[in-house]
Amino acid sequence: MAFNLRNRSLLSLMHHSSRELHYLLDLSRDLKRAKYTGTEQAHLKGKNIALIFEKNSTRTRCAFEVAAHDQGAHITYIDPVSSQIGHKESMKDTARVLGRMFDAIEYRGFEQKTVEQLAEFAGVPVFNGLTAEFHPTQMLADVLTMREHSDKPLSDIRYAYLGDARYNMGNSLLLIGAKLGMDVRIAAPKAFWPDEGFIVQCQAFAQESGARLSITENPQAAVEGVDFIHTDVWVSMGEAQESWDSRIEQLLSYQVNSQLMQAANNPRVKFMHCLPALHNSETKLGQDIAARHPYLANGVEVTEEVFESSANIAFEQAENRLHTIKAILVATLADI
Ligand code: CP
Ligand code: NVA
Repeated sequence: MAFNLRNRSLLSLMHHSSRELHYLLDLSRDLKRAKYTGTEQAHLKGKNIALIFEKNSTRTRCAFEVAAHDQGAHITYIDPVSSQIGHKESMKDTARVLGRMFDAIEYRGFEQKTVEQLAEFAGVPVFNGLTAEFHPTQMLADVLTMREHSDKPLSDIRYAYLGDARYNMGNSLLLIGAKLGMDVRIAAPKAFWPDEGFIVQCQAFAQESGARLSITENPQAAVEGVDFIHTDVWVSMGEAQESWDSRIEQLLSYQVNSQLMQAANNPRVKFMHCLPALHNSETKLGQDIAARHPYLANGVEVTEEVFESSANIAFEQAENRLHTIKAILVATLADI
């Protein structure tokens, strides 16, 4: 199985089978245990990995860097402003340069077609570290975290995603659940539903896997009986900051607050968020929003009360970025 993933790019998860995803999840668990028990072995000595970030990052960058270091690989970090990419050199040319120097490339940027082009011309595996459309490395961490917090078989787990469902997190949570046969509920206003064609593709995956997918405008109905409630920031990187006020109006009824958590009717329901989260006004952005919308001083997409409760497992989810990204690197690049 690992052989199938050797030298494979990870661009969206659209082309990964459920068995391949299970393999990556199992490998993540093994590598996590090895790190915790001090028995980790370095399988990536002598490998060079480029990390291109055209947008900011804390978790994804750190997870790739620490995972690479733990496994003996070297990384080169290319930040959003200091390379030639975009303004002076096309992605097609960049791909042909970096492909001659590196064993693999991670790319975080804007459109999905850019990361696809990078993969087409680099000749080495490319990992999508987030585009507007998809966030595939995040998905492995999310599912690993749900698996760790549930006694159920993966296919019995139910989760909801609330908020902006037509962007990277909404799309990706629908897709991975469809591939893995899970019960996925999306709640968002119609204008924020995933693209119709994409829903049809996910429904086809669901037919094969036994997944139950539902998309509704009703947040309370979506969370009824779920094990996990996910949300994400309401205005993503790369979107106009001026959208905040209208976005708040459109998504306010999808805020994850205590009432919404109770609507799950499951005392063990957990809260998940890829982070960063706007859960109070301690950040510059949180402050700006609270100045215009004082009722959001204690959280925007999630309230401070939920975020600081024992239901919040977002920090374990963040740690799992490391173990899952390490699994992707090892499965793709290790000479074993
Ligand atoms: N969740 C996530 O991708 O976080 P960063 O933007 O910090 O990488
Ligand atoms: N939807 C968010 C995810 C951040 C990890 C964004 O694209 O900014």
